[in-house]
Amino acid sequence: MLALRWKLSARGFTSRAVNGFTGSIGNTPLIYLKGLSEKTGSYIYGKAEFQNPGGSVKDRAALGVIEDAEAKGRLQPGGTVVEGTAGNTGIGLAHVCRAKGYKCVIFMPNTQSQEKIDLLRMLGAEVHPVPAVAYENPQNYNHQARDYAKNIPNAIWTDQFDNTANTEAHYRTTGPEIWEQTNGEVDAFICATGTGGTLAGIGKYLREKSAGKTQVWLADPPGSVLQSYVASGGQLKERSGSSITEGIGQGRITNNLGTFVNQLSGAMTIPDEKSIRMVYDLLDTEGLYLGASSALNVVAAVELAKKLGPGKTIATILCDGAYRYQSRLFSKKWLQSKGLEEAIPEHLKKYAVLD
Ligand SMILES: Cc1ncc(COP(=O)(O)O)c(C=O)c1O
Repeated sequence: MLALRWKLSARGFTSRAVNGFTGSIGNTPLIYLKGLSEKTGSYIYGKAEFQNPGGSVKDRAALGVIEDAEAKGRLQPGGTVVEGTAGNTGIGLAHVCRAKGYKCVIFMPNTQSQEKIDLLRMLGAEVHPVPAVAYENPQNYNHQARDYAKNIPNAIWTDQFDNTANTEAHYRTTGPEIWEQTNGEVDAFICATGTGGTLAGIGKYLREKSAGKTQVWLADPPGSVLQSYVASGGQLKERSGSSITEGIGQGRITNNLGTFVNQLSGAMTIPDEKSIRMVYDLLDTEGLYLGASSALNVVAAVELAKKLGPGKTIATILCDGAYRYQSRLFSKKWLQSKGLEEAIPEHLKKYAVLD
């Protein structure tokens, strides 16, 4: 019935069309990664989240937290949505706010690139760059976002890290899509986490639906504490090291990950050398132009395929495209500055076309 409400005319929408920006979030393809599958003797799939209308996996979380606030009566028409974010969540929220008529206010550390600030402003968001200080400092961008929302009427702080409406969105949509797209024959799922919403939401759904048969693994970039947390049975270490990946890696157990962390089968850390090489490999062999967190996920899926042995079906997430990072990922100077030039084999160096 719902579909008919916006089936305006015989020549307009059809029942296969979707309703606006928000209706076009989700239902992304599951891509069979042929070369890597053949190499490992497994079936490796990437969920094409870069095909969401805002360009990343975070569109689902953005819609999820806003719809949850609407359903709970915390956000009324004409209200304001506030978040602390430097990346894809802000982009997703800015789009959804335009589509639903809300004001979007983003707080971010003032160390972020001008391109990121400009993009959010072009999408209609009000951007507040604030001093880049640690989470413990009340001036941290997350706390400033929370306090700003508290002080104006009809405003919410979406709190992507600890608001479990984020995980719920993936439990309701991404998890069931992967289950259906693999005909329920998915042996393992693995991905990296920022908020943890993607891993926990999908992981929880797949574990339930498979009656515990589907293994769920966490992949970590260098500088994140989660791999050692899982491996040590729950000890949180000080954070050390850093990574070229963006949007992933974590220093604590967020509420979103906390709903699921004890059900993980294992965790692995993927070094930047392997992730950057996979950015180039995916482009060269599969024609996929993806960011470094997607590449890290694919490396992790390949490593898991090797661990589990041939014949297994393994799914991961292709989070976003390389477009937002291309001035770095494909720049010779940047690769050199990160000590990653040698991680790119000779035959793939031709893709590093920027100086
Ligand atoms: C590029 C990219 N990859 C992966 C993630 C991680 O997703 P999640 O926050 O659901 O753990 C993010 C989150 O912002 C991201 O921006």
